[in-house]
Amino acid sequence: MKTKIPHRIYLTEDQIPKQWYNLRADMKEQAAPLINPATGRPAALEDLYPVFCEDLAKQEMDDETRYFDIPEEVLDIYKIYRPSPLCRAYNLEKALDTPAKIYYKFEGNNTSGSHKLNSAVAQAYYAGKEGLKGVTTETGAGQWGTALSEACSYFGLDLEVYMVKVSFQQKPFRKDIMKTFGAKVFASPSERTEAGRRILAEDPDNSGSLGCAISEAVERAVTSDGYKYVLGSVLNQVVLHQSVIGLESKTAMELCDEYPDIVIGCAGGGSNLGGLIAPFMQDKLTGKSDPRFIAVEPASCPSLTRGVYRYDFCDTGKITPMAKMYTLGCTFKPSANHAGGLRYHGMSPILSKLYHDGYMEAVAYEQTKVFEAAVQFAKLETILPAPESAHAIRAAIDEALKCRQTGEAKTILFGLTGTGYFDMTAYAAYNEGNMNDYIPSDEELKPAIEALPKIPGIQE
Ligand SMILES: Cc1ncc(COP(=O)(O)O)c(C=O)c1O
Repeated sequence: MKTKIPHRIYLTEDQIPKQWYNLRADMKEQAAPLINPATGRPAALEDLYPVFCEDLAKQEMDDETRYFDIPEEVLDIYKIYRPSPLCRAYNLEKALDTPAKIYYKFEGNNTSGSHKLNSAVAQAYYAGKEGLKGVTTETGAGQWGTALSEACSYFGLDLEVYMVKVSFQQKPFRKDIMKTFGAKVFASPSERTEAGRRILAEDPDNSGSLGCAISEAVERAVTSDGYKYVLGSVLNQVVLHQSVIGLESKTAMELCDEYPDIVIGCAGGGSNLGGLIAPFMQDKLTGKSDPRFIAVEPASCPSLTRGVYRYDFCDTGKITPMAKMYTLGCTFKPSANHAGGLRYHGMSPILSKLYHDGYMEAVAYEQTKVFEAAVQFAKLETILPAPESAHAIRAAIDEALKCRQTGEAKTILFGLTGTGYFDMTAYAAYNEGNMNDYIPSDEELKPAIEALPKIPGIQE
């Protein structure tokens, strides 16, 4: 008799992956190279050194090395909060009356409350190894800033965090956790940088965006001795570090003799989704299996579903290298009332390329539908999800409901990236019936898309 698959499947400490998997090594065609805005030509490795740690810059540019060893120091910290559980959502399946089997990989079980710690630990380690005094970064909803504060405190590094102003105001306690770990936190746009002052001069009430916070953090890094900049998403190196999510998921599923038909993740800059799908996408790229992959984004900031696949700056201040990605334009101002950290104008170049080449699908949901799914999930599965993660829950529920109609017992895997305990302003708005669904019109999207950079000979 086949034993029942448990509600929570825990791997042992020695089953934590010892290597990160670099999806690019198996891609048939590579994502387009980064462009150095100063030269208008593909960026060389050395162009990245003033901004990024050298080992991280090497990971960023490497599309050939399939596996990177995870340093012992990083593994020692992973062991404090990993392996993360793979959970079977039996209660949700029952409530939906679906033949589908729903699994989720839960990454919220650490103080930062999300998957962000996986890359924060790696990036802080390399910064320490390079002998830096500290690093600077941006944070949207606050999870990345919290994760990096934790990681920097482990490795004895200073940290300056530029936090999107709307989140800074909505989530005062996020800032206090970061301070508890020793970070300095500033609401962005701030008066501390040229980029911030320029944005505030044009629009004193600007509520901030990830793109703007990135500009401020990069500017501070390049103008401060002994500091470099680290980023919590979008970059290839971050997708690489997050592959631990997918690798552990695959091992745990194999132990239960399971394999997903559909893999679903929310997509802000693409790091959790890129990490979750990595080993399954490897199977698809190498012809071993053919699962579906679904990126879920907010209807208020729909970079994959309504953006264009063009070169753009990764930040609003236009100082970072340009990446070819699905983008709404770096000057796009995401709606301040949308909850959570998916308010980014662009998308990981790796995921953008895979989506463009037809390996992945994307859907966009309005926020009330996302919160409806979050509340249903919380009541059934005992975890209060982060609003970002709830996008994936929404799509997983909808796929399971389709199975109810067709009678197919599909295996669905989604990423539950974090918990929502600091998102109570958004939950309160939902509970009190004050949550709005903002969907930008085509007219509203047009100006930022028309303002995309022109690069002679590459993008007219
Ligand atoms: C809990 C959580 N999930 C998902 C995301 C989206 O980021 P990414 O697309 O890089 O995974 C964020 C970003 O802040 C987050 O905090």
